Amino acid sequence: MSTTEVLERTAAADASNPYLQGNFAPVAVETTAFDLPVKGQIPAELAGRYLRIGPNPAGPVDPKTYHWFTGAGMVHGLRLRGGKAEWYRNRFVVNDRVAPVLGRPGLPGPRNGFGDNANTNVVDMGGRTFAIVEAGSLPVELTYGLESVARSDLGGTLQHGFTAHPKLDSVTGELHAVTYQPGLQAISYVVVGRDGRARTVADIPAPHCPMIHDTAFTARFAIILDLPVHFDMALIASGGFPFSWDEQMTPRIGLLPRSGDLSGLRWIEAPSCYVFHVMNAYDDGDAVVVDVVRHPKMFAREMRGPSEGRPILVRWRIDLVSGALSETVLFDRGLEFPRFNDARAGQSYRFGYTASAGDHTQDFGAVFKHDVVGGATQIHDHGPGRHTLEPVFVARDGATAEDDGWIMAYVYDEARQASDVVILDAQDFEGPPVAVVELPVRVPYGFHGNWIADPA
Ligand SMILES: [Fe+2]
Repeated sequence: MSTTEVLERTAAADASNPYLQGNFAPVAVETTAFDLPVKGQIPAELAGRYLRIGPNPAGPVDPKTYHWFTGAGMVHGLRLRGGKAEWYRNRFVVNDRVAPVLGRPGLPGPRNGFGDNANTNVVDMGGRTFAIVEAGSLPVELTYGLESVARSDLGGTLQHGFTAHPKLDSVTGELHAVTYQPGLQAISYVVVGRDGRARTVADIPAPHCPMIHDTAFTARFAIILDLPVHFDMALIASGGFPFSWDEQMTPRIGLLPRSGDLSGLRWIEAPSCYVFHVMNAYDDGDAVVVDVVRHPKMFAREMRGPSEGRPILVRWRIDLVSGALSETVLFDRGLEFPRFNDARAGQSYRFGYTASAGDHTQDFGAVFKHDVVGGATQIHDHGPGRHTLEPVFVARDGATAEDDGWIMAYVYDEARQASDVVILDAQDFEGPPVAVVELPVRVPYGFHGNWIADPA
């Protein structure tokens, strides 16, 4: 079978697995397009790339066992400069499965013992661009034009695997990460400096190997989510996704002093749930506030993707005196992919942004702006047959108001069978878009991304 034939088979939607259908279906071709059509006006001060990554298998997969989280990474990027959409590119993130399908050499760089698939986020670390993932696989460095360069252990400083969600502390310029890797029996708190080099601050014993997708930090603590989805070697032997719900475990949140002093680590019992994403967290006197998207369960019966009840936005307030956690619902419609103004990370904040996800984390559509202080939620509906996922907030240069900036998102248009990049004015959230950039191809539903401004 030729490479073209393999890729054509890849593109064929499979009716038996929802994560291979519709706009979940992978795209087969790497596209490069220049001078894209724009409706409206791209803000002239935006110079950089809006990157997004997601799973995109590069060859046949078994629809019976295919899990959305396991597809090879494909990164998408839109370059903006001088009010123009200069280019769009999508590229596979090369790994051992992708290379032979594409007829390319394998990727150089160190290995870390548990996979090599980086498909969940694309970030800047130390001025370089990386595709990243949790559970062991190392970051993959990408060129400005999104070609895979090499696996990276950040110059030998990353002891184990990494995470898909390093969180930027705008006060220090450091990235805070909570990592884990099956087989290590530990959760690591890792900090990456401005220079892109990592240091392991603490290793927390965790023989049950919880799936920890995200973290947050406050001025005092790193937040450790130890919730009942665990690695299960037996599932690997059966060819399936290796994490499942553990009914026996008591869910808990760890408050680890940022010094990494394990003697100060405090565990707080949490509601029975699973959390992929924290919006933000902060200290509030004798309390810690943690805003999360709470799923009622995860991977208890659906082993192909997250789809076990409505994920909603809640606030957990942890009383440090009593050790009690209380929950307030901030918004009870199904949603996911929370973002906010990253400059507020670890501090009190007012505005968050999420994507509508329906009751089963698959029914994407509108985007929400939450006033977590005032309580109101605004909705931007992209129109019939138009669906978006993660809304990325980009602050305006010199902004003082928390929501002075733009919301960027990849929006799939059913009618066009292609995607747009839509730019909203975050302060006129329900108003018409500032700009809509028409891409020539579909961007499949995927995970995370960021605006990476060009160096000044
Ligand atoms: Fe995520």
